[in-house]
Amino acid sequence: MKIKERLKEQIELIDGYLDKYLAEKENPQNIIYKAMRYSVFAGGKRLRPILMLNTCEMLGGDTDEVMPFACAIEMIHTYSLIHDDLPAMDNDDLRRGMPTSHIKFGEATAILAGDALLNRAFEIVSEYDGNNIKRAMTAINILARSSGTEGMIGGQVVDMESEGKDITLDELRYLHLNKTGAIIRSACAVGALMGGADKEEMDAIDEFAKNLGIAFQIQDDILDVTGSEEELGKPIGSDKEENKNTYVKLAGLEESVKMAAEYSEKAKKPLGIFGEKADFLTELTDYLTNRKY
Ligand code: IPE
Ligand code: IPE
Ligand code: MG
Ligand code: MG
Ligand code: MG
Repeated sequence: MKIKERLKEQIELIDGYLDKYLAEKENPQNIIYKAMRYSVFAGGKRLRPILMLNTCEMLGGDTDEVMPFACAIEMIHTYSLIHDDLPAMDNDDLRRGMPTSHIKFGEATAILAGDALLNRAFEIVSEYDGNNIKRAMTAINILARSSGTEGMIGGQVVDMESEGKDITLDELRYLHLNKTGAIIRSACAVGALMGGADKEEMDAIDEFAKNLGIAFQIQDDILDVTGSEEELGKPIGSDKEENKNTYVKLAGLEESVKMAAEYSEKAKKPLGIFGEKADFLTELTDYLTNRKY
């Protein structure tokens, strides 16, 4: 099956579960459900749940076991996007091809919708009643840590703090590794863990995810310059406007393209130990490095 078709199929599967987990309630706070659903179902590549499900499958695990975690990670990611777009942060008005949450619902509801998605994510995973409670407890911890101060939030703080300042390429790598890399890493780690990976397999998958995370954010930086708003579904030139430090700013466009390709090659190498079973993740890596949205 072609990668695009396979991705489409997986997105439909994930969206079915998300729909169930984010059912609306007819009560006085109904607007919060509408706002949560608006951002989640605005679109999105569903990269993190896809990585989780396929990592689990590569190890021979049962994907039903990881579905709650896959949905939770997409909720955490979507919350991070809602907050990332707020006027106090990147101040963007378009996301996933739609007006951002604060434009549509106002700032207060947007902030609360982000908070609510984060809470709902942990509500769902803590209700896990599958076959491996011990693994699930570790998975919950991985999710919490990767989205917290030593992960995504940490990266977002460094991103904000370094606006308008000169930083080194090493510092930028640290920033990318956290704001974007951490959740991509935890998506793969949870998939591997729930799939029953041993230490060597966990390490190989983490090496893959770490490099993929950097390649993915470099391409995100590139698309902010070279992309089209229509294809990307978010504004072009936002990084420059907000005085962000990006690979394009520090290394130039041409060098950034090279670096994205290098990190993507580095990502694929450790997958060698899985042989043909890693074909999808390998193909996905190339697909993401060449993406236009
Ligand atoms: C955007 O993530 C923010 C980054 C971490 C680069 P995605 O490019 O995965 O956004 P969606 O989920 O497809 O909208
Ligand atoms: C955001 O990075 C990473 C998050 C944790 C949300 P960006 O600010 O570059 O993401 P976009 O370009 O707005 O999607
Ligand atoms: Mg940002
Ligand atoms: Mg942004
Ligand atoms: Mg960006």
